[in-house]
Amino acid sequence: MAKPPAKKTFNLFAGQMRLTLFLPATDEMELPLTEKSPLFDAPVAGLVKARRSFRSYSQEPVEQEKLDALIGFMQNLPAAPFGTPVRFALCDMGHKGPGRIPGTYGMIKGARWFLAGAAQNSPMDMEDFGWLFECIILRCTDLMMDTCWMGATINRGPFAQKLNLRPDETIPAVSPLGYRTTRRSLTDAVARMSVRAASRKPWHELFFDETFDAPLKEQGAGQWAIALESVRLGPSATNRQPWRVVGNSNGFHFFCQRFPGYDKITKSADMQRIDMGIAMCHFELVAREEGLPGAWKKASHGVEKLLPRTEYTVSWIF
Ligand SMILES: Cc1cc2nc3c(=O)[nH]c(=O)nc-3n(C[C@H](O)[C@H](O)[C@H](O)COP(=O)(O)O)c2cc1C
Repeated sequence: MAKPPAKKTFNLFAGQMRLTLFLPATDEMELPLTEKSPLFDAPVAGLVKARRSFRSYSQEPVEQEKLDALIGFMQNLPAAPFGTPVRFALCDMGHKGPGRIPGTYGMIKGARWFLAGAAQNSPMDMEDFGWLFECIILRCTDLMMDTCWMGATINRGPFAQKLNLRPDETIPAVSPLGYRTTRRSLTDAVARMSVRAASRKPWHELFFDETFDAPLKEQGAGQWAIALESVRLGPSATNRQPWRVVGNSNGFHFFCQRFPGYDKITKSADMQRIDMGIAMCHFELVAREEGLPGAWKKASHGVEKLLPRTEYTVSWIF
């Protein structure tokens, strides 16, 4: 890969102390603890690594201060990369007890609180929603609360009512919010097993150097390795991991490789475009935390031969 320009510190992070602390090696590449992101208390790369989906919730109430912190966070979110208006709400679904939550196809148990959002229909609405909602999910991780992206196994009706959904809006996904039970429910365990939720595709299937014929190795990614690793560790609908990224001297070009027939899973929203927004969120927040230069742009990516079923999303231009 041609050499990207030298590292530059963003004003946003000026004056913050830099701390790099490598954790012991495992089979996954370890994410260093780096300087703080202004959005979160903890370093964002660590939050990306710590977040997991939980589908069974304990009856321990969520503290009012945490709910207030989250509401404040949702009211002060930065604009989404493509500028889609999205509004969010913390919904008290009124459920009491450890049982199954109606409208979740038996998937979620015991949660009283849900996060939901409505995106104004527009060409990049799913990506923008993915970017913003993942910021909120990471803030929940930051506040030591548990969540689970829900886009398919969810009845949107009750959330549409809570949000007073307008005809020009869509609810792409929601999430329960609270504290996990000590043990995962059987449904949760089966759901995780069926999509191999704890594993991720290796680097060579996701990241490429100039063309899709040449895999990008971690060593070759240099200072961008942590941002790319954070893309790899992201959640995705049924853990399909559709993100494909090609790096060249202009920047990193993000593509979505569609899973065959996946669009038929839910007509309500395009799950794989939401996944792309999540990948953009992780990449951008970690790159900024690392003091790396760049911004999102729809650009001529110059990648000639695409993989099958692959669509261009956006580029991070240096
Ligand atoms: C856009 C999106 C939609 C999802 N929809 C559902 C869903 O409808 N039901 C569900 O049980 N999990 C859903 N998930 C959770 C994924 O299955 C989960 O993120 C993935 O298996 C990886 O596991 P992890 O989140 O624990 O890392 C969704 C995730 C994403 C990103």
